[in-house]
Amino acid sequence: MKVGVIGCGSIARQRHGYEYFHKDGVEVGGFFDRMTERAEALVNLYGGRVYGSVEEMLADSTIDAVSVCVANAAHAEITIAALNAGKHVLCEKPMAVTEEECEAMVAAARKNGKRLMIGHNQRLAPAHKRGKELLSAGRMGRVLTFQSTFGHKGPEMWSVDQGNHTWFFRKADASFGSMADLGIHKLDLVRYLIGSEIKSVYSTMTVLDKKLPDGSPIEVDDNSVEVLQFENGATGTVTTSWTHYGEECNATILYCEKGIMKLYADPEYSLQIVNADGSVERYALDRMQTNDDEQMASSGVIDEFVDAIVENRKSILDAEDILKSMKAVFACLRSAEEGKAVKP
Ligand SMILES: NC(=O)c1ccc[n+]([C@@H]2O[C@H](COP(=O)([O-])OP(=O)(O)OC[C@H]3O[C@@H](n4cnc5c(N)ncnc54)[C@H](O)[C@@H]3O)[C@@H](O)[C@H]2O)c1
Repeated sequence: MKVGVIGCGSIARQRHGYEYFHKDGVEVGGFFDRMTERAEALVNLYGGRVYGSVEEMLADSTIDAVSVCVANAAHAEITIAALNAGKHVLCEKPMAVTEEECEAMVAAARKNGKRLMIGHNQRLAPAHKRGKELLSAGRMGRVLTFQSTFGHKGPEMWSVDQGNHTWFFRKADASFGSMADLGIHKLDLVRYLIGSEIKSVYSTMTVLDKKLPDGSPIEVDDNSVEVLQFENGATGTVTTSWTHYGEECNATILYCEKGIMKLYADPEYSLQIVNADGSVERYALDRMQTNDDEQMASSGVIDEFVDAIVENRKSILDAEDILKSMKAVFACLRSAEEGKAVKP
């Protein structure tokens, strides 16, 4: 399989380019970025050629699949163009910036008979996978309540273009703040772990600390809290933050009929089970990937994208399912605006 990468910032460098380069059976065809020097830098690292435009890459009949790693607002247009050009697509999260765009992406994949997957690496994190297996096997009984947090020091310290002029802080390019940037991971994760659909959401979003270069508050939220209610009754919270200075938090805690499941709540033991009788089981499966890692450990996303295409099987990253999590994100936006709980 020959692949191209569109958008050559941090996620393309640390994950897509790196993992395609190391994946057996994959040839890196090349890179495009509107800043040509960024595409050149990734060609130097991972091979292939620099393309002069999205259209040039999509017109190359030797390219089978592309990764879309650009700013959020351009996900849908490029993804749909790639699907219409007969490419399989791995699009980064958040899938797109409106519900209509997300639905059009899924429809384009169906119409063209091509695969569309979204880069939801958290579903593939080892402790999350093991947690899902245990929950599905009934080890914990029903999930009653939960809390899931994703907080780090902010995307302006991660983007290839570091500083508070980052596109992540502007509505036009990012559309969303921490709630969708980080919250989509956790809304999707709890939906996946609990195995039920989200019935209602109540969300508050605020700008507490981040500033634009002129000192005014950023145009999107830097902190959010969501209260989620699931169809099966489970009720809990997701919190997101771009102002967790000093240490990231990626913890999900599920309070279940038979005890408590803690995922990435401890730096050493990524999965812990506290049984109802108080006994504790600790499993050191892995360490959660963080934005501070020099070179991320393999996310599993590229393996899953390529293998699901080659093996012609359903994928845990298929866009059709992730669209349901995106609907919850759009409901959170409506809820924060209207100040009341809403249905996705
Ligand atoms: N799965 C994850 O956990 C994860 C982590 C980080 C970023 N992301 C997502 O990946 C995407 C890219 O984020 P990043 O951190 O790499 O950002 P970044 O700022 O480091 O890089 C973005 C790159 O895209 C280029 N670009 C933007 N719009 C473009 C367009 N229309 N055409 C061509 N190039 C364009 C920019 O020039 C820049 O080089 C975002 O949607 C982000 O949410 C996902």
